[in-house]
Amino acid sequence: MNIQTTVAGVKFDHPIFNASGPLCTTWEDLEWIGKSESSGIMMKSCSLEPREWNPSPRYMETPLWSLNSMWLPNLGYDTYTDFSKKLRSFKKPVVASVVWFTGSEVADKNDFVKITQAFQDDSGVDLIEINLSCPNVVWKPQLAYDFNDADYVIWMVASLWNKPIGLKLPPYFDPAHTDAMAKVILKHPNVKFLTCINSVWNTLIIDSEKEEPIIKPKGWFGGLGWDYVKPVALANVRAFYKLLWDKIDIIWVGWVKSWIDVFEFLLCWAKAVQIGTVYSREWVESFGRIKKEFEQYLEKKWYTSCEDFIWKLKEL
Ligand SMILES: Cc1cc2nc3c(=O)[nH]c(=O)nc-3n(C[C@H](O)[C@H](O)[C@H](O)COP(=O)(O)O)c2cc1C
Repeated sequence: MNIQTTVAGVKFDHPIFNASGPLCTTWEDLEWIGKSESSGIMMKSCSLEPREWNPSPRYMETPLWSLNSMWLPNLGYDTYTDFSKKLRSFKKPVVASVVWFTGSEVADKNDFVKITQAFQDDSGVDLIEINLSCPNVVWKPQLAYDFNDADYVIWMVASLWNKPIGLKLPPYFDPAHTDAMAKVILKHPNVKFLTCINSVWNTLIIDSEKEEPIIKPKGWFGGLGWDYVKPVALANVRAFYKLLWDKIDIIWVGWVKSWIDVFEFLLCWAKAVQIGTVYSREWVESFGRIKKEFEQYLEKKWYTSCEDFIWKLKEL
């Protein structure tokens, strides 16, 4: 069976790899992903300077949801440009995730340029994901919710062309906003893929037993993941597919935990899927398990490749 796929022209042996975030920060994490059945190696979002964790408790999960406010802990971009060169030995695509972060009011969008340039010029990455859905700049909306700022940042990084650039987007809840973002994206033909969606930010969950919120940072507000938001994610993938299908590949991320999700999202409009929470729960075994289940399901349906069903959801 051939379940290869491509994202922005880069070949993946199968559609399932890790999302930026859980367990992809250190060299050991990345080496494990390299040795695993993940089809690619996605690295932790990196900033100009290394960053520490938020105070605990900063992450909680149940079978239905995960809630996080990690504060983008990472080792700084230059460590990841070095890691990416060594990761070439695993012979699978390596993806960088670039974030602009500052907790102060001297935010400099040129950080994006500096980091992206470094990955373009001297690294082992195949794709560069620009994280426009970082919620951590406290006095401003996420970049992807500020269409003028997003336009400016994309314009700055997309011209550093060589390796394909993609955007990691947050969920949008109104078609006017997906339309506005698609218009921005269409101005920049060097944007070759979208990763939809990041956590649903500013959600609050309390523990009624203890009579307190479940996480501490950011006034107890965190990013929601898992089953609760799967329909939001699917709707976002659909909305962008309708607007951009012939121009851009979409990677689905969010609330994938079994073959059903992988099948559904490829049937709809994605070219690949990234897994976050399920990977942090089951660790590297998750890639092989989901891939095996997915292949067994395709066999049952007599499909021999992703081409047989990708994007073929029946119309009502
Ligand atoms: C603990 C944790 C850390 C995360 N850190 C990042 C990050 O550094 N960069 C990023 O783009 N997304 C980050 N995310 C979001 C994930 O990449 C993903 O978009 C989201 O969790 C939905 O996928 P999932 O349901 O498979 O977890 C993080 C998510 C979690 C749970």
